[in-house]
Amino acid sequence: MNPSPSHILSGKHVALCVCGGISAYKAAELLRLLKKAGAAVSVAMTPGAQRFITPLTFEALSGRPVYSEIFEGEGTGRMEHIRSAEQADLLIVAPATANTLARMAQGLADDPVCILYSAYCGPVMVAPAMNDNMWRHPALQDNLKTLRSRGVAVVEPDTGELACGSVGPGRLPEPEVLLQAISERLLRKADFAGKRVLVTAGPTCEPLDPVRYITNRSSGKMGYAIAQNAAERGAEVTLVSGPTHLPAPQGVRLLSCMRVAEMRDLVMRNLPDADVLVMTAAVGDFAPEIIEKEKIKKQGEAPLVLNLAPTPDILKEVSALAERPLLVGFAAESENLLQAAQEKFERKRLDLMVANDISAPGIGFQSDDNQVTLISRDREPVELPRMSKLEIAGRILDRVLELSA
Ligand SMILES: Cc1cc2nc3c(=O)[nH]c(=O)nc-3n(C[C@H](O)[C@H](O)[C@H](O)COP(=O)(O)O)c2cc1C
Repeated sequence: MNPSPSHILSGKHVALCVCGGISAYKAAELLRLLKKAGAAVSVAMTPGAQRFITPLTFEALSGRPVYSEIFEGEGTGRMEHIRSAEQADLLIVAPATANTLARMAQGLADDPVCILYSAYCGPVMVAPAMNDNMWRHPALQDNLKTLRSRGVAVVEPDTGELACGSVGPGRLPEPEVLLQAISERLLRKADFAGKRVLVTAGPTCEPLDPVRYITNRSSGKMGYAIAQNAAERGAEVTLVSGPTHLPAPQGVRLLSCMRVAEMRDLVMRNLPDADVLVMTAAVGDFAPEIIEKEKIKKQGEAPLVLNLAPTPDILKEVSALAERPLLVGFAAESENLLQAAQEKFERKRLDLMVANDISAPGIGFQSDDNQVTLISRDREPVELPRMSKLEIAGRILDRVLELSA
């Protein structure tokens, strides 16, 4: 049985951001429920929100100053309560207007809510509430997609009668539902606490000479998403990465490498400290036998013949160890996906295999989305719908927890 909200929220600190929507009044009830469950709450409001409900209401309910002005106020005291909100265990924007969601996606920082969101490093939730046509608008949906891809959790609006008179999706869920969603997010936040997760990501890169190399199209996004999700859930994460353009996720120890042999050494060195190894890296199968010291010159019309030797098989080496962490592998295939993935799952003695069809348009390499099937020994393959790589990372780590229970 899951613990109650007051078990989870007692002693926690929540930053509640309120925007200018008709349902702003529900934020006051949410604040009351959060306080009742034992949480400390810091409130930030957009100028729009203050047209619907006053800061005084939130100040009285929270017992703290409300961050409602960016240029006026109590000077250094104001900075203190912004700092304090930045330390919160979770930030929720409820109600989140179409306008503020667009500004968050754009990275604007010219009102208290957007400033706090840009400065905040913990888990973020948004609860959009608006007219049903605003909710369906492609611009709004694109902004939500951007925010989701950055790890923001979206509490879906309810469908029903809206303040504007129409019926459809767009209602802010009731405060009790929001309280439950906050509790679940905080609970999930800690479910990897005490676990050490080693992740490999990106392509490998094998030099031919001082200027050329053989590599592949992996962007590293899947592995970075796993590292980010594991760190957000309290794991101690080491990310062994081939060359990518991605910044290291917050709180993750990044170890960079180029060649398969270097990646292998980093994995083997860090393996004894890992409870889980997730191998998302697209490890090259072949490397030039000889790396030329000087740039290879073109010899008229003569073809260049390269001898490529197989690279170390890191997964095989790890799976052969008597003591090994829980092992998650990826199979990126362009044909016979399930059969090839199942075969690799058995051959490499994996605990979990993530099969990834790279032939489908719009998913896989470089893309923000993916569509995968999870293969494990204890159940039939589970085909997940297409979703962002961060959401897939969450599902994979949920399975890892089940398998390690
Ligand atoms: C009566 C009224 C109700 C509104 N309700 C909503 C709403 O529920 N959701 C929304 O996205 N915008 C709503 N708006 C529009 C926002 O108030 C407007 O976009 C404003 O600029 C939002 O500012 P903020 O995002 O900085 O809070 C409403 C406007 C009015 C006048």
